[in-house]
Amino acid sequence: MRKDFGKKTVITPLPVVILGTYDENGIPNAMNAAWAGQVDAHQIIVSLSRHKTTDNLERCGEFTVSFATADTAAASDYFGIESGRNVNKIEKAGMHAVKSAYVNAPVIQEYPLTLECRVVEMKPDGDGFLLIGETVNMSADESILTDGVIDLGKMKPIMFDSAMNKYRVIGGIVADAFKSGMALK
Ligand SMILES: Cc1cc2nc3c(=O)[nH]c(=O)nc-3n(C[C@H](O)[C@H](O)[C@H](O)COP(=O)(O)O)c2cc1C
Repeated sequence: MRKDFGKKTVITPLPVVILGTYDENGIPNAMNAAWAGQVDAHQIIVSLSRHKTTDNLERCGEFTVSFATADTAAASDYFGIESGRNVNKIEKAGMHAVKSAYVNAPVIQEYPLTLECRVVEMKPDGDGFLLIGETVNMSADESILTDGVIDLGKMKPIMFDSAMNKYRVIGGIVADAFKSGMALK
């Protein structure tokens, strides 16, 4: 038996990305976004309503994308329920931001994996935007590397479970990509 839910849309896994930008006074800001994905080898897309972050993006044209982890879940949620219009969220969360060497945007040190991006397009979409960005550099903390490769097992990224409104840790390896299906070919 299957149950119908009508138009309700649960996509899984939804990432929990943290967009880092600078405001007009050079104050770093962080925002949580789950409606995000990759559109080609070097481009990402994020569906955005209007926020302090979109003001910053329109002015600066550059941003960072970090990935929330089990260790940073509470701060990452805070970045989605408070606005940088009211408070310096990064400082309040006890996190630390340094300017990227590649773009005019903050790299938040507590997140182990960060894409440093420039805005390709902010396409108006209803009251908000579809943000398309291109990666200029990706940096990772050594603590999440195994033999020089990013090891998500060490990083423990979290996903947004939109069915239950929870964050879940993304699990372990179950099969090899481009290989495990070969036996059925
Ligand atoms: C789990 C979660 C996911 C979110 N995803 C998005 C999203 O994809 N797009 C968006 O515009 N806002 C999203 N938000 C809301 C923003 O993060 C929130 O409005 C935030 O306060 C904006 O911060 P800012 O004003 O400092 O830019 C999300 C919030 C949460 C908690």
